Amino acid sequence: MSIEILEARQEGREYPVCVGTRAAAAAAELTSDRDLVALVTCGPVRATPFAERLERQLARAGNLKLVHVLPDGEKGKRLAELERAAAKLLRAGATRRSLVIAVGGGAVTDAAGFLAATFMRGVDWMAVPTTLLGMVDAALGGKTAVNLPQAKNIVGAFHPPAAVLMDPTALATLPFRELRSGFGEVLKYAALRPSLLPAAARAAARGKADADLVAACARIKLEVVERDPLERGERKLLNLGHTFGHGVEAAGGFRRYTHGEAVSVGLAFAFRLAARMGRVADEQAFEVEAALSEAGLPIRVPAAVAKRAAALMATDKKRTAAGLRWVLPERVGDGWGVEWDVAADPAALRAALGDIAEDA
Ligand SMILES: NC(=O)c1ccc[n+]([C@@H]2O[C@H](COP(=O)([O-])OP(=O)(O)OC[C@H]3O[C@@H](n4cnc5c(N)ncnc54)[C@H](O)[C@@H]3O)[C@@H](O)[C@H]2O)c1
Ligand SMILES: [Zn+2]
Repeated sequence: MSIEILEARQEGREYPVCVGTRAAAAAAELTSDRDLVALVTCGPVRATPFAERLERQLARAGNLKLVHVLPDGEKGKRLAELERAAAKLLRAGATRRSLVIAVGGGAVTDAAGFLAATFMRGVDWMAVPTTLLGMVDAALGGKTAVNLPQAKNIVGAFHPPAAVLMDPTALATLPFRELRSGFGEVLKYAALRPSLLPAAARAAARGKADADLVAACARIKLEVVERDPLERGERKLLNLGHTFGHGVEAAGGFRRYTHGEAVSVGLAFAFRLAARMGRVADEQAFEVEAALSEAGLPIRVPAAVAKRAAALMATDKKRTAAGLRWVLPERVGDGWGVEWDVAADPAALRAALGDIAEDA
């Protein structure tokens, strides 16, 4: 199978985003001019056949000097881990010409990307995402960060990678719930570009993401980010389903619902809200909901969760002074487009909350 190469352009920098089964093998070829290559990953990923093969290829290429294994998931996104990793890079002899290769989900690419952003005031890094969410979202756009105990992603930097390599075969070992959760984000792109909806819905229902689908989603994110790198306007579109989704995630104590599951409920909510405001037809909201639920994603939450989510979303960090602004669809011809900074009237909000609430 061939590799599809998308060009990402961001703040005067360009980098290739390669999608396909040979993408990861290409990593080794891109490292020959480096004095040192450091692979940053986490335990569960390092144990996968995909990562083992990649590590062997890098070792054979000659300049892999360090493999740093972060604690899994959010535990790897800590300042203390950044210090440990930076000290190890220094001990290994890393210079400004060294390269960090992040192999893992969004947690690893966020943490390793931030390490690269800050080590010696910035070294190059390459992202090799191994989750669906990492491929269509976290590894694209140049946002890197770690958490504080008080807040997620609060210490970070914009530091676009030198290349992103996405091999969908890496997803073969991904736990089912993580994969399905990634489809929540895939269906967000489909809701942004309804022409993608039929293909995305079919793939989500089968639980199989191929290179074409990953590339289609990546292209949407890259186009939006290129036009609005610092999230002044259009990039807000990528938050479709996230306003209420963040509320659902918080209402579930960040345990009950994964991010993608919460986004799924948030997408259903955004379309119900738009329908209640007369912006789209009920059938259009049903179409999006059908795609989500056929993927096995939730589109309803218990009434108590819905109520709590509504209270919590008002404290979302992206709130503007004028009150909550929504990313909502609006009918265009037979389909719809999506707009940001939309005010919602309280009666429609209440009605939409009733629509997505179910009895526990
Ligand atoms: N920078 C951005 O723009 C951006 C965007 C969205 C999300 N994020 C961040 O991404 C993170 C979530 O990313 P995620 O959903 O990928 O979760 P994750 O990185 O925590 O990975 C989920 C789990 O899957 C495992 N895993 C990963 N790849 C695997 C594979 N191929 N086979 C087997 N197991 C595998 C991981 O070890 C982990 O246990 C959050 O920290 C979030 O803040 C960042
Ligand atoms: Zn998201």
